[in-house]
Amino acid sequence: MAKRPLNNRVFEVGVIDWDRQIFDELIPLPNGTSYNSYLIFGGEKIALVDTVDPAKRDILFSNLEDAGVTKIDYVISNHAEQDHSGSIPFVLEKFPEAKVVTNEKCKGFLKDLLLIPDEKFLVVSDGEELSLGDVKLKFLLTPWVHWPETMVTYLVEDKILFSCDFFGSHRAASHLFVEDKYKVIEEAKRYYAEIMMPFRAQIRKNIEKISSLEIDMIAPSHGPVYPDPELIIEAYKDWISDRVKKKVLIPYVSMHGSTEAIVNFLVDKFIEAGIEVIPLNLPKTDIGVLAMELVDASTVIFAAPYVLAGAHPAVVYAAYLTNALRPKTKFISIVSSYGWGGKGIDQIKGLLPNLKAEIVDTLMIKGHPKDEDFKGLDELVKKILDKNNNL
Ligand code: FEO
Repeated sequence: MAKRPLNNRVFEVGVIDWDRQIFDELIPLPNGTSYNSYLIFGGEKIALVDTVDPAKRDILFSNLEDAGVTKIDYVISNHAEQDHSGSIPFVLEKFPEAKVVTNEKCKGFLKDLLLIPDEKFLVVSDGEELSLGDVKLKFLLTPWVHWPETMVTYLVEDKILFSCDFFGSHRAASHLFVEDKYKVIEEAKRYYAEIMMPFRAQIRKNIEKISSLEIDMIAPSHGPVYPDPELIIEAYKDWISDRVKKKVLIPYVSMHGSTEAIVNFLVDKFIEAGIEVIPLNLPKTDIGVLAMELVDASTVIFAAPYVLAGAHPAVVYAAYLTNALRPKTKFISIVSSYGWGGKGIDQIKGLLPNLKAEIVDTLMIKGHPKDEDFKGLDELVKKILDKNNNL
């Protein structure tokens, strides 16, 4: 790799991880990711904003060499998660004069996670500035984008916001700046869904906070840099708003075709009614798609057969994740196909305490759906359509 310039004193020197397929051993990465690290040549001091996943540190060091770096004064740590901080101990080994600049809470995490000694830190508070000679860095605490210690760094004179996970996307791409807006926003939405969605209220406050800055460029630590910050800020404002789309998600599993018959009926009815419907056959669905669709779906219908005396574990997992992601979904329903009984519906209901959604209806269907069952499903569709029409 090589260094990629943002302007004549700021360079991206991190890593494009083309092959990474999963993050946190949870999140699928269909398009790889990047760990962006930004080198700033101030008139007197040199700063590195965030580092890279430690498995890829050799590439960071090769890029630093390529950039002609012989000293680093400050390593700015916006976030303690190891995909950005994990190489800090190695940077300190190579550049022992460097100080780790971060907030008090992040310092605590870095000490716990990476065993960085106390004397290596320069602790900054909210709004504090640090001079690099001819330019200044300003630090703003922005908790919960993604952990409680997260902050952003603003290069005052160049009006660049280094936002770390905030506004990021998992995307490996050779070009540094946004090129295909549609693709980038889709990937940023997936990223928001998987990482940020549970913290909607805090993100709202953080967006208000950064709106006090004049920003010409947003440089996250994953994915492309935004030369037009409004593109991603406006997308975030939409995602964090209370607005939902008239959209029905149906996460489901079918073992022998009965639940599939239920889902096919529901899908056809919603299509006939002209409302967007997305069946998600869970064993074949990337769980990131579920997360992404939850960003703005009005309605979720979980459809599960019984197995092992309960709801199918794939649907249980989808319900658990839905609850953890805390989407703004307004209406929930649960339908189930069973053979000889069980408590699958209550089991799924019990997994959703974080949701402020109304449970519209639940239906238990014995075996393959029959005429009476289709009437019940038809009623369910009518109720859901009614709720959506009154949004
Ligand atoms: Fe990209 Fe929360 O780390």
